[in-house]
Amino acid sequence: MNDALRHIVQQMPKAELHIHIEGSLEPELIFALAQRNQIALAYESVDALRDAYAFSDLQSFLDVYYAGASVLCTEQDFYDMTQAYLLRAQADHVRHVEIFFDPQTHTARGVPFEVVIHGIDRALQDARRAYGISGGLILCFLRHLSEADAFATLEQALPHRDKFIGVGLDSSERDHPPEKFARVFAQCRKLGLHLVAHAGEEGPPAYIATALDVLQVERMDHGVRCLEDPALTARLAREQVPLTVCPLSNVKLRVVQRMADHNLPALLEAGLMVTLNSDDPAYFGGYLNDNFLAAFEALPLTLGDAHRLARNSFAAAFLDEPLRQSWLAQVDAFFAAQASGTPC
Ligand code: HPA
Ligand code: ZN
Repeated sequence: MNDALRHIVQQMPKAELHIHIEGSLEPELIFALAQRNQIALAYESVDALRDAYAFSDLQSFLDVYYAGASVLCTEQDFYDMTQAYLLRAQADHVRHVEIFFDPQTHTARGVPFEVVIHGIDRALQDARRAYGISGGLILCFLRHLSEADAFATLEQALPHRDKFIGVGLDSSERDHPPEKFARVFAQCRKLGLHLVAHAGEEGPPAYIATALDVLQVERMDHGVRCLEDPALTARLAREQVPLTVCPLSNVKLRVVQRMADHNLPALLEAGLMVTLNSDDPAYFGGYLNDNFLAAFEALPLTLGDAHRLARNSFAAAFLDEPLRQSWLAQVDAFFAAQASGTPC
């Protein structure tokens, strides 16, 4: 990648739509919070913890990720974690962010739901004022837990309905198909919540189809295995269902073996509405711009692809239409200024 393209990819305005806030907990903050809350960690040092970040698949990551999240206890802990992420996001020229959080990881340890959501929401409101970054929260149900547990979580969330915009589905994909949560998602749809789900990361393309048909999701998180099913790929392209693709995550969790093998160019070539995202940046080797740079470095991607990915990030966001159009115009103005040599 040449310096000009690198500069453009870094500086272009963008939205991030697939970031698990618990996955932004850096090892240093994990240790600081463990100390603050007098929690014993299974790792002796920051370096020893970081050394454990060698994953063989999704489950091997989730085991470490849930252990890391166990240091989060107070509203201030959730605030500090979210604030640290938003500072990194704004440095990457992220203008709008939709943040996943996993309440069951915390309520199962006795942390009240409101402690979790108040801490994350307060950091988001402060970042809106400080950096002008807009955002929303998406409550994810853990798919390895039961439907009853998801319903109980929704019940706890409802008094805070004004603080989240949608629901998602994450955690261990294999053997936990989307349809396990059909009734929960139907209820969330009735409540007017936006719907997304992880599907087609490790799980088969059939899970992408049921996430669409049974859960009626508006966006697919990952979805990269769709290319194994040409009819499904054609449908995703026809309906312009956004895929929130996470390149560094896919390499770290061995969904692909090397970045050079990533199917991102093929997804774009198929006409899909692809966005790039960081997933769990503290665990997978980088934030949003690191994902863009790693992908653009290893793959045959062009200036036109950068423009398309920046546009897609706002096109796929849960934004009011006038605001979406305003961001799309700002993306186009940014690229027009690059083309005419006017510094932005
Ligand atoms: N996949 C599924 N669940 C998750 C992930 C992921 O990449 N990150 C955090 N929870
Ligand atoms: Zn994810």
